[in-house]
Amino acid sequence: MYYIGVDLGTSAVKLLLMEGNGTIAKIVSKEYPLYFPQPGWSEQNPQDWWNAVKEGLKELTQDCDKSKVAGISFGGQMHGLVILDKEDRVIRPAILWNDGRTQEETDYLNHEIGKENLSKYTANIAFTGFTAPKILWVKNKEPQNFERIDKIMLPKDYIAYMLTGNFCTDVSDASGMLLFDVEHKCWSGEMMKICGVTSRQLAKIYESYEVVGTLKPEVAKELDLPMQVKVVAGAGDNAAAAIGTGTVGDGMCNISLGTSGTIFISSKNFGVDKNNALHSFAHADGKYHLMGCMLSAASCNKWWMEEIMQTTEFAKEQSAITDAMLGNNHVYFLPYLMGERSPHNDANARGTFIGMTMDSTRADLYQAVLEGVAFAIRDSFEVAKSLGISIQSSKICGGGAKSPLWKKIFANVLNIRLDIIETEEGPGYGGAILAAVACGEYASVEEAAEKLIKVVDRVEPDKELAARYEARYQKFAQIYPTVKELFPCIS
Ligand code: XUL
Repeated sequence: MYYIGVDLGTSAVKLLLMEGNGTIAKIVSKEYPLYFPQPGWSEQNPQDWWNAVKEGLKELTQDCDKSKVAGISFGGQMHGLVILDKEDRVIRPAILWNDGRTQEETDYLNHEIGKENLSKYTANIAFTGFTAPKILWVKNKEPQNFERIDKIMLPKDYIAYMLTGNFCTDVSDASGMLLFDVEHKCWSGEMMKICGVTSRQLAKIYESYEVVGTLKPEVAKELDLPMQVKVVAGAGDNAAAAIGTGTVGDGMCNISLGTSGTIFISSKNFGVDKNNALHSFAHADGKYHLMGCMLSAASCNKWWMEEIMQTTEFAKEQSAITDAMLGNNHVYFLPYLMGERSPHNDANARGTFIGMTMDSTRADLYQAVLEGVAFAIRDSFEVAKSLGISIQSSKICGGGAKSPLWKKIFANVLNIRLDIIETEEGPGYGGAILAAVACGEYASVEEAAEKLIKVVDRVEPDKELAARYEARYQKFAQIYPTVKELFPCIS
């Protein structure tokens, strides 16, 4: 049988066709626009996602035996606010995970409602990108839209709704709404009251590997797929990526270098970091995880190359960064091009170069960009270490993981081994695995991960290089606290 994983990302949707034994038969990608209507705002049109998913599904399945397509599931960009009215019309463009407009609402939640209460209700505090502050923003700034809200959805759940007609979500993605009691896996009555919404406006909650429905007849017809194809709840993209890299069970780690950068630590038990610097979310394997998320990771690389250097020759540009240069750069870069989430929680933070001299080169600045992203992930890694979590190795996935240079920088900045797996298609592969589990191909997510994920290479840290990076990280860690007071004046 075939299983489809839909990775609904920020720049594109990637669809992956997987055979029951884990072999990837085909991958298709469809881009859609991303809008920045004001500095720090970030929006997309849900209709663009839906059109891209439909086109992608048609192309993905055009040459396969369609009667063998058994299930579809998702890894979806998290936290995005999609609101529909009574006629199921999208009320306004979706407000995305990296949107920073809700500082006022976030401050209200963290300081007036209070972090302690938020953490008690949801296991998390407010960040500008989370969904609840966005609901409050619509309530405060667009009351006419707020009045019309009939359904509140996350991005991938909009696609499941369009496919099946069922209003559903999964525990991992719901965790990022700040409306969900993560420990008990139900909507929080207190948070609903605070946001002025009712449970009728919120979706039915499923585990990520549960079936939520089958294709609507008209959709099956349009896609030329059997009506009995099962649609499976799926997961937020980070939890799906963790499944796709075999990061399940206790104490496993995955680093994802997509538009955002995340460090994801799976856990059998529910747990909260007492400062809430790391998110405490449900995992797609039925358990829990901690996660640090930086808002601009591979997007810093893309920005530097495409916007600033005006080139797409990534490998050529990286080849100018020689081994001898690693750990010896005097230039530093704070990668906060969209503000920063973990661990600083500062929507006003901005990208910053510091340390240039007359002899600084184009390669030094590029190196600083790649290193700055690794240092910023190390900030969250340090929080995990302070909780007593010992991480000796990690998987790595996402577009950024295709660069051998960046992987080497990460292994040495974090001073851990990176396990390279056969496929770097984290969220899409994870989505396909969730579909396979729901359709009975595997008994559990853990069993599927064990059978399907193969480590094919390792990147070990080098003692001397890791020591040089340790010294550089200690300097990097002083830059943000020193300049942070400036950001509100210049952002
Ligand atoms: C996680 C987060 C991002 C998005 C990217 O909390 O905001 O990783 O999920 O799609």
